[in-house]
Amino acid sequence: MLCLKENKERKTKRQSHCPWWRLPAMLVVVLLLVAVAAMSCYTFSSRRSYGYNPSLVSKSNTFQLQFLQPKPKNETHFRHNFSSSSTTTKQPNNEIHFQYNFSSSSTTTKQTSTKSEAGSQTKVQSETRSPYHNWELFATDFQDMMSNFKIYVYPHVYTNMDMDPFARIFLPHPNPLNPKLGNYLSEHMFKLALLRSSLITKNPRHAHFFFLPFSINNLRNDARVRSEASIAEFVAKYTRSISRQFPFWNASAGADHFYVCCHSVGRDAASRDAELHNNAIQVTCSSSYFQKLYVTHKDVALPQVWPRPYDVPLNPPHARHRLVYFAGRIQNSRIRQELIALWGNDSSMDVFHQRPSFPYEEGFRRSKYCLHVRGYEVNSARVSDAIHYGCIPVILSNYYDLPFANVLDWSKFSVVFNNGEIPFLKKRLLSITKNGYLRMYRNLCQVRRHFVWHEKPRGFDSFHMTAYQLWLRRSVHRIS
Ligand SMILES: *[C@@H]1O[C@H](CO)[C@@H](O)[C@H](O)[C@H]1NC(C)=O
Ligand SMILES: *[C@@H]1O[C@H](CO)[C@@H](O)[C@H](O)[C@H]1NC(C)=O
Ligand SMILES: *[C@@H]1O[C@H](CO)[C@@H](O)[C@H](O)[C@H]1NC(C)=O
Ligand SMILES: *[C@@H]1O[C@H](CO)[C@@H](O)[C@H](O)[C@H]1NC(C)=O
Ligand SMILES: *[C@@H]1O[C@H](CO)[C@@H](O)[C@H](O)[C@H]1NC(C)=O
Repeated sequence: MLCLKENKERKTKRQSHCPWWRLPAMLVVVLLLVAVAAMSCYTFSSRRSYGYNPSLVSKSNTFQLQFLQPKPKNETHFRHNFSSSSTTTKQPNNEIHFQYNFSSSSTTTKQTSTKSEAGSQTKVQSETRSPYHNWELFATDFQDMMSNFKIYVYPHVYTNMDMDPFARIFLPHPNPLNPKLGNYLSEHMFKLALLRSSLITKNPRHAHFFFLPFSINNLRNDARVRSEASIAEFVAKYTRSISRQFPFWNASAGADHFYVCCHSVGRDAASRDAELHNNAIQVTCSSSYFQKLYVTHKDVALPQVWPRPYDVPLNPPHARHRLVYFAGRIQNSRIRQELIALWGNDSSMDVFHQRPSFPYEEGFRRSKYCLHVRGYEVNSARVSDAIHYGCIPVILSNYYDLPFANVLDWSKFSVVFNNGEIPFLKKRLLSITKNGYLRMYRNLCQVRRHFVWHEKPRGFDSFHMTAYQLWLRRSVHRIS
């Protein structure tokens, strides 16, 4: 309730545009500066000072919120279990990653450089064919990131159930490869990979970014929270408690903080905290230019990845006999309904509004083009499924802010249609030449590695690609 009131107050102040309060406000800021400076000295002096005063945060009528003090001893205890589990659970069958035989990053670089020696025209050609906007620029900056980028995770990610009744909201998922996680894999894998990555720092003074480790998917599945309104309230309270107990939030008004979600109920998670949705970075699967609380260029599009088996051999282009594949529910989507009505009976396409007679995955293997058609959200796992199985994604989802679009040139390995073009779907796909298709297929094979999560991140996988998006958004000005 407290936070709601404060928000309302803030809103009315903003709306009134009164200049008179600015002077006292500046005085408050100056006082705050002093307080922040004092706080930070205190906090940096001892790790034990991280902690909550539960009385400040457990004033809710709807549910009891307590963020208890995480104890460093248990943190290391947990970390030990955490790292040891990574060595014991090395069953290749459980791990999602790919081997592909197409030119790796280094060979691409070589190709470009040899071609540039051969002549500027070939260079232009190789660049226009690459699935990257500018591979060399990206690869150099990426290396810079790998050496220098640091992310600090708030210690609630190391709590346990005995210490904090909401610990499960913050802990890494114990079994992220559980197929039941389905659409929400990316949210959990990001956290898991971050905790095992070399980008993590235990020293917040070295951090470029601060990670708020709550899980929207776990909030969704927690009977005490569940609804979208309660999730937003939980998240606002957590943010508020972070800003009281640590000096980092106030130092940038949250601009160097981020959270991750892949569940559609996460769309409004930041709605009860203006700083959270104005300043902090939302890393989300529901990345739509039309989403109320999604801010393009500030927020980051997260690829939605379905847990898929390890090392699937690709069906080569000549063995793909079907033109198009799509299978999905159509209740929530006018455009899917239009698709079924127009192409549901076409003999060269596999377009279904229910489960096909063959296994769902088989459709991706035997088709040249696989449709991603927006449903309730702009996103679904179909894009990364198509990429996983070597099927060219056809994206019918207006204003979907595609993942990594500032690095990847999506037009080189996918087809993006306007929703209104469904009647011309077949004609346009058939107008793509065989060589044009093969080029896209080769490019697709190059970018597959970006749509793969590893428990321990490596190379250019989804984790490092997403981290790179944060890296591009660093350099926040802080007031302490
Ligand atoms: C750490 O957590 C355990 C439960 O796993 C608890 O019994 C113990 O008291 C905690 N240790 C410390 C030092 O707080
Ligand atoms: C962590 O490992 C210790 C022994 O190394 C074990 O006693 C404990 O149950 C483990 N905890 C978890 C959560 O796996
Ligand atoms: C990939 O290449 C290796 C040798 O470079 C070969 O042994 C392997 O069979 C190839 N895999 C596929 C799927 O083509
Ligand atoms: C941060 O600012 C909020 C209000 O703007 C204040 O309540 C809180 O105490 C501040 N935090 C710190 C650590 O000074
Ligand atoms: C497709 O075929 C089914 C069954 O044969 C029929 O009911 C339906 O009307 C057809 N749809 C179109 C768009 O022709």
